[in-house]
Amino acid sequence: MDSVDIFRSEAHKMVDWIADYYADIEKYPVKANIKPGSVFSAIPDAPPSEPEDMKQIFSDFERIIMPGITHWQSPGFFAYFPANTSFPSLLAEMLSSALGAQCMKWETSPAATELEEAVMNWLRKMTGLPSNFEGVIQDTASTSTLCAILTAREKSTAFEANNKGMAAFEGMRVYCSTEAHSSVEKAVKIAGIGRENLVKIGTDKEFRMDPSLLEKAIAMDIQNGFRPVCVVAAIGTTGSTAVDPVEEIARICSKYKIWLHVDAAYAGTALILPEYSYLLKGIDMADSFVFNPHKWLFTNFDCSAYFVKDSESLINTFKLVPEYLRSQIQEHVNDYSNWGVQLGRRFRALKLWFVIRSFGVNGLQEKVRHNIALANELKTRIEEHELFELLAPVEFGLVCFRFHPKGIEDTGILNRMNEKLLLAVNATGKVYITHTKLDDKYTLRMVTCQTNIERSQVEQAWNLLVKTAESIY
Ligand SMILES: Cc1ncc(COP(=O)(O)O)c(C=O)c1O
Repeated sequence: MDSVDIFRSEAHKMVDWIADYYADIEKYPVKANIKPGSVFSAIPDAPPSEPEDMKQIFSDFERIIMPGITHWQSPGFFAYFPANTSFPSLLAEMLSSALGAQCMKWETSPAATELEEAVMNWLRKMTGLPSNFEGVIQDTASTSTLCAILTAREKSTAFEANNKGMAAFEGMRVYCSTEAHSSVEKAVKIAGIGRENLVKIGTDKEFRMDPSLLEKAIAMDIQNGFRPVCVVAAIGTTGSTAVDPVEEIARICSKYKIWLHVDAAYAGTALILPEYSYLLKGIDMADSFVFNPHKWLFTNFDCSAYFVKDSESLINTFKLVPEYLRSQIQEHVNDYSNWGVQLGRRFRALKLWFVIRSFGVNGLQEKVRHNIALANELKTRIEEHELFELLAPVEFGLVCFRFHPKGIEDTGILNRMNEKLLLAVNATGKVYITHTKLDDKYTLRMVTCQTNIERSQVEQAWNLLVKTAESIY
């Protein structure tokens, strides 16, 4: 057999394996349960000198690798925020791998660039973002937020920080709430602004940024000679999916001429539902916005949709064209490597195109509504159960709660009980639930946004939680 025939035969086997994996996914323990170092020690120290047979490689994949996999696509996976796949997305990823195109510039695969522009326009329309926002696909929301903060930094210095270095521009300030994702702090560190210059603004009881505290902090900073450059507001914080008051924050940013970046990494997908369009009030005053189709829009990791109002500033921040990348067409097309950090780019637009066309906007809306309905049903169960307590409003598909038997009010005791409960349910292998702390309370987080999740699976998880809680009480 020549190599193409071998590939054809192995690929057919693998597609069958993948189909069986999805059909039987519930047979795997959701969370990997192996000892640290066990996979590493099963891999030989030295690479093989001679070719190995695919049969042997694949059997080692099943024997060594599979036990160390946490099954993110399992309907028992309620942890973190999801990283959803779907079959159309998987098929597109197969094609993208097969083409192996590195899509850094228009010329290196014009179709990749132009499809990216087209599907980002689709996403902009689907989410209701203003028509003067332009989109580009980044790998993650962390990178998108870094791009926003770097562009804000550059715009505020007439693009001189890139030339002179940060020593010439001391005292920059960035603002976000105490509930903002850690990627904001990481971006501030990488941007050379210094984490001490990230001002964390307090929140209200529902974990939303308090805009009056924001304005006070900005005014005081200006008085003290600092230079406010960027505010990051969240639509859907990681802890509890709180929504910062974007419109009020946007007004403050406009008043002080500060870049406003909106991080909707997970919850942005809900904007495809008309009933959530109120969340975008004030967005026309924002400068950039990110959400991750790789979280909740059934598109394989990685795929982060970054939208920016002033794409020229973004390009001015990142553009570098050495001689070996020059082309005659570059002034007339988008070269997306100038819209972010990385030069080399995967063909990510293809999977978005496949997903949006296969489900259709109506189909996507139906799935997202189903996810949200399941979260609300779980919320009702929690509210009606005397041993449990809801800890945050349910805005999307995340439910935050804890085990709270009557008569026990000590936070330390309740925290330890809830940690024990979490470990016990996860140890069953049937579910994977993660936690956070809200107001110092150990909080169980359950996200009901799996691609193929059904009501019965949320019910099973809930019954398991109740039974386990009763047994440790
Ligand atoms: C609100 C928010 N922002 C940013 C991120 C980081 O996302 P990514 O892994 O795409 O960098 C997360 C991850 O959960 C998030 O919840």
